[in-house]
Amino acid sequence: MATTLSQSELRTSAAEGGTAEQWRERDRRSVASVWSRYTDLVVSSAEGSYLIDVEGRRYLDFACGIAVTSLGHRHPDVTAAVHRQLDRYWHTSIVTQSVVMTEAAERVAAICPEPLDVVFFANSGAEVVDGSLKLARRSTGRQGIICFRGGFHGRTFGAMSVTTSKALYRSQYGPLVPGVYVTPYPYCYRVCEHAPGEPCPIAAGVELERLFHQVVPADEVAAILVEPIQGEGGYVVPPTGFLSTLRRICDEHGILLICDEIQTGVARTGRWLAVDHEQVVPDIVTLAKALGSGLPVGAIVSSHRLMDRWESGSHGSTFGGNPVVGAAVIATLEVIERDQLIDRAAALGEAIRARITAWQTAGHGPSDLRGRGALIGMEFLDDQDRPDTHRVTQIKHRALEAGLVVLSCGIDDNVIRLLPPLTVSDSELAEGLDILEAAVVETGRAR
Ligand SMILES: Cc1ncc(COP(=O)(O)O)c(C=O)c1O
Repeated sequence: MATTLSQSELRTSAAEGGTAEQWRERDRRSVASVWSRYTDLVVSSAEGSYLIDVEGRRYLDFACGIAVTSLGHRHPDVTAAVHRQLDRYWHTSIVTQSVVMTEAAERVAAICPEPLDVVFFANSGAEVVDGSLKLARRSTGRQGIICFRGGFHGRTFGAMSVTTSKALYRSQYGPLVPGVYVTPYPYCYRVCEHAPGEPCPIAAGVELERLFHQVVPADEVAAILVEPIQGEGGYVVPPTGFLSTLRRICDEHGILLICDEIQTGVARTGRWLAVDHEQVVPDIVTLAKALGSGLPVGAIVSSHRLMDRWESGSHGSTFGGNPVVGAAVIATLEVIERDQLIDRAAALGEAIRARITAWQTAGHGPSDLRGRGALIGMEFLDDQDRPDTHRVTQIKHRALEAGLVVLSCGIDDNVIRLLPPLTVSDSELAEGLDILEAAVVETGRAR
């Protein structure tokens, strides 16, 4: 047996304290180092909009565990629903039908546009991305999968094979899943070559038509997989019309449109789904993250037309649709509806944008401000228009020192992403934005 801890150390549970540094040292010894962290916070509790570390310090959480705790931490209604479920049953898997899973499926279908009314549950985002690719191949009898450069879809072999936001995520894991074709995403602010304000050829589908002409015939393509707004890739909002163009191209060629709404879905952008902003109806939607308020869940949502072609038993999961998680899903969707958090997401977005626009006007940056609803990206470039990763790192550090957790993203990690809880109060929002403003102004001056 590998003994890394003394008996007295083992007896020190989180409830009994210990300094942050002691816990970091224990973590270094026992947790795989591949598990990277955005901050060195050592958290032992959380409530509402705050994380609380082992030494009792409170941090405003505008990261939401990467777009997960949209109702804040331990929302009372979700907590109560989970407690009630713990007293009924925890697990049956595919041994029985489960009333909670059936109800959760009905609720999830209800937030998706028609005809998407059938749900498959799994435990994470990557799992449902994998499952959606399997569904696409099985139901079309075709193999090709088209995905977009800069996209992030997860870490399993299938999801990693369609992930191109950073080479690190793929490096030395090959060979990856074959039949994947990567095409450019309309990242007009920095990557596209057209002049600012000019129509974007990529958003108009020019590159896809080239791909069909030169690389893979359209009738060999099962699905186009897309994030309606790229998440890890930099909160990149494509030009309006891009998703409708994808829909048209898919319809022309009998290709399925899979929209990965794992980061954008469940009210975050001021609609249930980000595709609702363009009224585009995908063939398959993947959801996860905020759907369970922090309990692990993923969902593939599609139509009977497709799902009925997925032969019973040809995909599955031991834990998917777990009743305790299902209770959290049902409660989460109820709270969003009852407390009108979709409207709140839109209002938060407007308030945040107004504040940041004033920083821009005063010359502090960011160079670009984008997003939808309460999913907001601030991209920083330096004086020579190069990605300013260093400044973004400094902003995160200063904010953290002052008690605010914010994350970065982007292919060059030069984008601050803001994901406040949709339940954040106006005063908490102001407190967080004051801290962020100070960090932006100070780091701007230091340049
Ligand atoms: C758009 C998108 N898809 C898929 C995933 C993978 O989800 P998970 O980490 O739950 O596997 C993520 C995670 O960040 C994501 O943002």
